Amino acid sequence: MARLDYMDVYFSVQSFQEEDLRGKSAVIIDVLRAASSMVTALSNGAKKIIPVGAMEDAVRIAQTMDNKDYLLCGEQNGHKIEGFHLGNSPLEYTEDVVADKTLIINTTNGTKAIKKAALANRMYVGCFLNQKSILKALEDHDDDVVLICSGWQGKMSLEDTLFAGSIIYKMCKGKLPKNTKDGVKVAFSLYQGYKDELEKAIETSDHAIRLKELVPDGDIPFVCEVDKFDVLPGMKDGILINLNG
Ligand code: MLT
Repeated sequence: MARLDYMDVYFSVQSFQEEDLRGKSAVIIDVLRAASSMVTALSNGAKKIIPVGAMEDAVRIAQTMDNKDYLLCGEQNGHKIEGFHLGNSPLEYTEDVVADKTLIINTTNGTKAIKKAALANRMYVGCFLNQKSILKALEDHDDDVVLICSGWQGKMSLEDTLFAGSIIYKMCKGKLPKNTKDGVKVAFSLYQGYKDELEKAIETSDHAIRLKELVPDGDIPFVCEVDKFDVLPGMKDGILINLNG
């Protein structure tokens, strides 16, 4: 099992440098909503996911593929991108839409965190929907593991920190050892405080409030479901596949 004294938590994409991850493993977290959409898509049969850091990259990659094989997905400041097939609501990623497709995804923070973590030894994508798969994957780690919260444009976000805290809380069965890093203590304490009312807490988060005007009401309750999918998105050569598949 990954050791908590080797673990750290970063609270936004901007809070780390690419080099910080060399020789470490990373869990990229974006509860609202990139990670939740990716996990849902892979569970519903998407073949693979190509995360990109910019819209132009998504379009460029799509031009090299057959039209029937891919979907352009994602958002810009919460809005569906004009000309793309799907936005970033996990509710859109149903089996009839995504099965056997390659998804090319660009989002404001989540895919940027994934791209920035390219030097990590191993990389997973996690959210409440696949909490158990992440915990299971960490059982095989004896290296340094960093939980990377995507946050929002450099700021921390409640929902991502809560998920990081839930992983730490479950790893130590609710008793945090003393020799942990500050980020681990902060995430653990936040989760400890809110664990019995996760959805209520996440509903009041900055990003949930920001999304209220833009997305279907169902997104927040959906992303708060714990262990809905047995999916482990893992990075192989720049592409996310389901390692549990
Ligand atoms: C992001 O990558 O910042 C998010 O997934 C934004 C969103 O809620 O669509």
